[in-house]
Amino acid sequence: MPIRNTQKKTILAIETSCDETGLALVEASGDLKSFPNFKIRKAVVASQIKIHEPFGGVVPNLAKREHLKNLPILFEELGGEKMMGSVDFITVTVGPGLEPALWTGINFAEELGKKFKKPIVGANHLEGHLYSFLLPGSRPKSALKTVFPALALIVSGGHTVLLLMKDLKTWTRLGETRDDAAGEAYDKVARLLDLPYPGGPQIEKLAAAGNPNAIEFPRPMLYEKNFDFSFSGLKTSVLYRIRDLKRPLTASEKPDYAASFQEAVVDVLTQKAVRAAKENKAKSLLLSGGVASNNYLRNALRGAAEKNKLKFFVPELEYNTDNGVMIAVAGYMAFLKKKKYLLKAQGSLEV
Ligand code: KG4
Ligand code: ZN
Repeated sequence: MPIRNTQKKTILAIETSCDETGLALVEASGDLKSFPNFKIRKAVVASQIKIHEPFGGVVPNLAKREHLKNLPILFEELGGEKMMGSVDFITVTVGPGLEPALWTGINFAEELGKKFKKPIVGANHLEGHLYSFLLPGSRPKSALKTVFPALALIVSGGHTVLLLMKDLKTWTRLGETRDDAAGEAYDKVARLLDLPYPGGPQIEKLAAAGNPNAIEFPRPMLYEKNFDFSFSGLKTSVLYRIRDLKRPLTASEKPDYAASFQEAVVDVLTQKAVRAAKENKAKSLLLSGGVASNNYLRNALRGAAEKNKLKFFVPELEYNTDNGVMIAVAGYMAFLKKKKYLLKAQGSLEV
């Protein structure tokens, strides 16, 4: 089914790659040369945190069940059948993510597509994070004109990637994590500190009351010439420090552990991103992904960017953790680039 040839596209976006069901209705216009514009008409997210919390992580089949339950509810909340007349196309995350979860979104999109005769565009979840700097509020629009070359850091629960973007269509991968992603390390260290899932926001909160220099944790791979990361060793050294105490951490020690761990993560991310930007003569730093909702990281990167005369872009808080709006952006970009992702779950799709 061809997409209507109109200046403005109204997009229904669906995200189900992990433990958030996200739907959004977004108006998009503009092209690759003049930078696209996005207007968020409505966005809804149903978080499954409470469901997965007792298991300390996301259980794929529970996620699938919850998405199946939430999708029709969120669709009604967003506008239901009444809004479908204005929709130009549906876009849905095809990967990366948990395949049983991805399929629920894809199947739901296909049912809607058939029922309302709407074309479907597959979207890459990581491109959703990456392109979120185009959303209103990430930075004044005038700054976009001189954004490239840009150094993009995507930090989520499943990925930690550094990309060098030449323009909206072209980038190279400079580095990535060799083991755990930054968000995954937050979640695992949170468990060591008896904090509930997801650990990122919990550690951030606890760390605010702690001393970031109380415990000297390693900065894995910081001084290696490449732009890769490794966070598994850092998590292990938190584990060993606690084990060596031969007693449980006291409530007054925990904030120092959280703050010192966070300091190590933020230090490595910031220093490596800035070095990659400088070595590649980037004009800006783009931060995205669930961990980008961490204010300590946002402030550290913003400060380092300013010091090094780099423009800094980060999506508004709610658009960092998984949501439908970022998928509308990824879907519109796929449409502009004429990129046709297969409409099937691709668990390890890359960016
Ligand atoms: O992008 P996202 O919502 O899902 C994936 O694509 O993986 O990222 C989720 C990750 C989780 O590991 C979560 O702990 C982390 O982002 N996260 C945070 C914060 N909020 C979410 N990490 C650190 N500080 C936060 N405030
Ligand atoms: Zn994500």
